[in-house]
Amino acid sequence: LNNGLALTPQMGWNSWNFFACDINETVIRETADALVSTGLADLGYNYVNIDDCWSYVKRGNKDQLLPDPKTFPSGIKSLADYVHSKGLKLGIYSDAGAFTCQVRPGSLRHESDDAALFASWGVDYLKYDNCYNLGIKPKERYPPMRDALNSTGRKIFYSLCEWGEDDPALWAGKVGNSWRTTGDIEDTWKSMTDIADKNNKWASYAGPGGWNDPDMLEVGNGGMTLSEYRAHFSIWALMKAPLLIGCDVRNMTSETMEILSNKEVIQVNQDSLGIQGRKVLSQGKGGCREVWAGPLSGKRLAVTLWNRCSETVNITMRLPDVGLDGSYAYSVRDLWKHETLSGNAVGTFGAQVGVHECKMYIFTPAVSVSSI
Ligand code: DGJ
Repeated sequence: LNNGLALTPQMGWNSWNFFACDINETVIRETADALVSTGLADLGYNYVNIDDCWSYVKRGNKDQLLPDPKTFPSGIKSLADYVHSKGLKLGIYSDAGAFTCQVRPGSLRHESDDAALFASWGVDYLKYDNCYNLGIKPKERYPPMRDALNSTGRKIFYSLCEWGEDDPALWAGKVGNSWRTTGDIEDTWKSMTDIADKNNKWASYAGPGGWNDPDMLEVGNGGMTLSEYRAHFSIWALMKAPLLIGCDVRNMTSETMEILSNKEVIQVNQDSLGIQGRKVLSQGKGGCREVWAGPLSGKRLAVTLWNRCSETVNITMRLPDVGLDGSYAYSVRDLWKHETLSGNAVGTFGAQVGVHECKMYIFTPAVSVSSI
C-alpha cells in the first residue's frame, strides 16, 4: 500500500502468541519499558501491538468502541501517550466482521467511526482480523478500512489478517502494508516449517510497502529447541516477514534475547532492496537438505543452509545454483557465529549442519575468478 509506511518489514511486539486474551494495560506498559531497557527498541522493534481482547464486549451509547474498563481502565489514548513517550508506536486490533475472534465488537460497517477513533487515540498500526465475516469476500471487506484509515490523515500501518484464505498476495498490495498468507502459527517445529513453505509460494508479491506475513514469532515461547528458534528467526528474516516478537519480553532468557537481537540477521530482513528470499534447493531424501537465499543491496546474497532432516547432514551447493555469479570468488560472513570465514568461496560452498539447524551467511563478491 502506497501510504509511505512499511518500506521495510515491520518490527515490534504483539501480545497474542504469549498472552492471548490475558492482557491489560500494565502488561503493555511493562512491555514498552522492557523493549527499551533490553535494547530491542534500538534494534528496530518499535511497534507495541495490542491484539484481541482489549475492547469491551459492547459498543457505547454512541455506538463507539470502548476499552475494557477492567483491563484498560486508563484508556487507549493514555497508553498511546505512554508508548510514544518511550519513542515507540502503538498498534491496535479489530476485525473485518461483526465480531472479533474473541467475540468483541468488529468494525465491519463501522470503518469510518472506528478509524477516526483509533486516530484520535494516537494509534499507529491496525491489525485487522477475519472472524464473523458474514461470508462476505475479503476483497470487499478490507478496502473500506484502508480508505477510512487514509482519510483520518494519520499515518497508520494497515496489517491484513485474512489468514491467506483468498490468496491476498494477488490483490492486497493495493490494500494493506502486509497480509497474512497462512492460518495461525503454533509454537511447534511442524507448524513453523509448514508456514515457511506456504509463505514461500508468494515470494514474488512482496516488496517495499507490502509484505507477505507468515504470522508472528514464537521465539522464546518454549515449544521449539534453540536451533529451531534460530532457524525460525533466520527464515522469517530472509523471507522479509514482519519481525513481531511473540514472547514475554519482560522475562526472556539470555538465549532468547541473543536470537532476537542478532543485528546481522535483522539487517537482512531490513535490507533496502526488499526482495523476499526463497527456497532455491532441496536435496536428499524427502528434500530435507534445503538452501534458501535472497538478494541484498550491494550485489550481496543472503544464503541459509537449512537442515530439516532428523540427523546431522552436509549441505553443499554450486554457487550458480543459488543465484551467484560463478565468475566471482565470494567473501562469506557467518551471521550466527559473527565471523567472516577464512578464504573466499569459489565454485561451490558447503557446511555440516546440525539437526534442524539453519546456518545463515552473506556472500559478497570479492574478486573475479579470472584474476586469481
Ligand atoms: C486470529 C489471528 O490470526 C490471530 O493472530 C489472533 O489475532 C487471533 N485471531 C485473536 O483472536
